[in-house]
Amino acid sequence: MEAVQRKPVEADLSLEEAIRGRRSVHYFAPGARVRDEQWAKLFELTALSPSSFNFQPWDFVIVDDQGRKEQLLPLCWGQRQVVDCAAVVAVLGDKNPHRRDAQILQQFQDNGYIDEQTKNAYMGAVDVVYPDEARKIEHAVGGASLAAMTFMLAAHGMGLATLPMIGFDPAGVRGLLKVPDEYIITMLIAVGESADRNLPRQQRRPHEEIVHWEIFGGNRKTVHLDLAS
Ligand SMILES: Cc1cc2nc3c(=O)[nH]c(=O)nc-3n(C[C@H](O)[C@H](O)[C@H](O)COP(=O)(O)O)c2cc1C
Repeated sequence: MEAVQRKPVEADLSLEEAIRGRRSVHYFAPGARVRDEQWAKLFELTALSPSSFNFQPWDFVIVDDQGRKEQLLPLCWGQRQVVDCAAVVAVLGDKNPHRRDAQILQQFQDNGYIDEQTKNAYMGAVDVVYPDEARKIEHAVGGASLAAMTFMLAAHGMGLATLPMIGFDPAGVRGLLKVPDEYIITMLIAVGESADRNLPRQQRRPHEEIVHWEIFGGNRKTVHLDLAS
């Protein structure tokens, strides 16, 4: 099968072009493949995403076997993208913030960010920041979502189309991909070659609506007056 080659791998888009140009692709050209060197670059870039304490609570399962993608289809509400795309990537968020904490916090000390006393304080702080299941889920989903966004922008910059998907049966996909309970399947991302119809981008809420100044509901013009009183 042919490798995906819509644009050269080094597409060299500006950051703004990449952000403006990325779209959720709903139709993929069947038969395309993502080459191993493309996967390597994609995940090298994805791994540069920021994370709390640099714990990097993300793992990825790549499904590019056609038979396995067919098995995903009924678990993904029949969304054809999962069979037509080159691969489906399951983005996993790790609920366990302690998995590599000693090793990673040691790096902070070794690289001169903090001294030993502060490192020990950080070790204790992990349970303060993530004391319960709800916060551990935030750790998993927040971290994995940032990585997913990096992944989608990097893929777009490399000429690959993506579709993030939450429309799937989590227990079924967990079983098929043998994902351990400590990981949340934050989303699936279909990756491949676009065969989309260039539908217009869906409207976005305007920045005046999504931005609050200084306090929730704060207005740029009036908030400073309000705060002073
Ligand atoms: C977490 C997440 C889950 C999504 N799940 C699906 C999905 O299951 N099926 C689908 O067709 N689109 C899905 N989408 C795509 C959104 O509909 C799309 O991002 C949105 O309409 C904005 O379009 P754009 O990405 O082209 O800007 C999902 C997007 C995100 C971020």
